[in-house]
Amino acid sequence: MGSSHPDGFVVAVLGATGLVGRTMITVLEERSFPVRKLVALAASSGDRTIRFKGQEVPVEQVRPESFAGVDIALFSAGGSTSLMYAPEAAARGCAVIDNSSAWRMDPAVPLVVSQVNPSALLDHDGIIANPNCSTMQLVPLLKALEDAAGLRRVVVATYQSVSGAGGKAVQDLQQQRETLVRGGQPISTQFPHAVVSSPIPAIDVFLSDGSTKEESKVVHESRKILGMPSLKIAATAVRVPVERSHSEAVHVELSQPLTPQEARKAFAAMPGVTVLDDPAGHLYPLAASSVGSDEIFVGRVRSDQSVEHGIAFWVVSDNVRKGAATNAVQIAELLVEMDLVHGARHVV
Ligand SMILES: NC(=O)c1ccc[n+]([C@@H]2O[C@H](COP(=O)([O-])OP(=O)(O)OC[C@H]3O[C@@H](n4cnc5c(N)ncnc54)[C@H](OP(=O)(O)O)[C@@H]3O)[C@@H](O)[C@H]2O)c1
Repeated sequence: MGSSHPDGFVVAVLGATGLVGRTMITVLEERSFPVRKLVALAASSGDRTIRFKGQEVPVEQVRPESFAGVDIALFSAGGSTSLMYAPEAAARGCAVIDNSSAWRMDPAVPLVVSQVNPSALLDHDGIIANPNCSTMQLVPLLKALEDAAGLRRVVVATYQSVSGAGGKAVQDLQQQRETLVRGGQPISTQFPHAVVSSPIPAIDVFLSDGSTKEESKVVHESRKILGMPSLKIAATAVRVPVERSHSEAVHVELSQPLTPQEARKAFAAMPGVTVLDDPAGHLYPLAASSVGSDEIFVGRVRSDQSVEHGIAFWVVSDNVRKGAATNAVQIAELLVEMDLVHGARHVV
């Protein structure tokens, strides 16, 4: 990796004690990102430490001054925290890669999937947004189809794991399972219903048109990343009793004919995408086998005969890795490669 800082970078992780933040730190280490110093930030310090490259890094309570001297900050501590601290960090000359939804649709903020629209980083002014996990695993496949045969309309149904709602939601599902095994009536402290017994067709708040905010994120973020503001796209987002990795059933209407074989070839050519598609051998992407991987897995690729030039497929990815932490680190890698860590912006 090219680097304008031969000694590496000061990297902060805000939300360092959370599910995504911890994974960000793991991914930084796994990918040998050039970290000179790691700053671990959270809501409180609480005498906690985070292990990084064999050292115990103390967790610090975040303050605006935490970002002084920091080159790159990976944020994963919720929208209101990002709204408060991202401008503070950017004003101190730090490149913020934010995992919350707070900045994604801001026209001045690039929204980036590493293998789809890296050139959007050229315009960054200190804050860069990481997409929603459901959008993340969908968009590289849509980009492959757009380039191969043109997108006309997309319909996606998601089957999202509970980890998308954070570490407490994973514990909540485990408790629901234990209650069921004991013959009790499971209740949830994190979701409107006990997801262990029923998929829940409601993620995030409802909007005035009857859709949910999660569905709206898939629609609007996909359009922004693909640079297709009028793309016809509809989503249904569903929470399922799976701990980790999101699955999606996708139906796409194309402008030009494309055989399933040609679609598989286009998917396989996209970096970070693995095709798993042998129905006779029961080979297709599964949530359980994707956990811990940075790949996006696609299978069940077939014609959708209900429309002209229709293609259907099933896509699975680890929502905490590529869906959140890994893409954030890949954006950081791109900033280094493109010499954009301290991009053109006002530093006060
Ligand atoms: N999980 C996913 O698959 C996924 C995917 C995409 C995006 N995201 C987004 O990533 C963010 C974090 O998700 P998560 O799953 O890691 O949640 P989590 O496990 O609940 O962790 C939350 C982290 O944020 C910190 N935090 C909370 N409130 C804070 C505040 N006011 N100031 C500073 N730090 C604060 C917490 O610190 P303490 O330990 O001190 O409380 C903790 O480190 C959310 O915005 C979520 O929407 C998650």
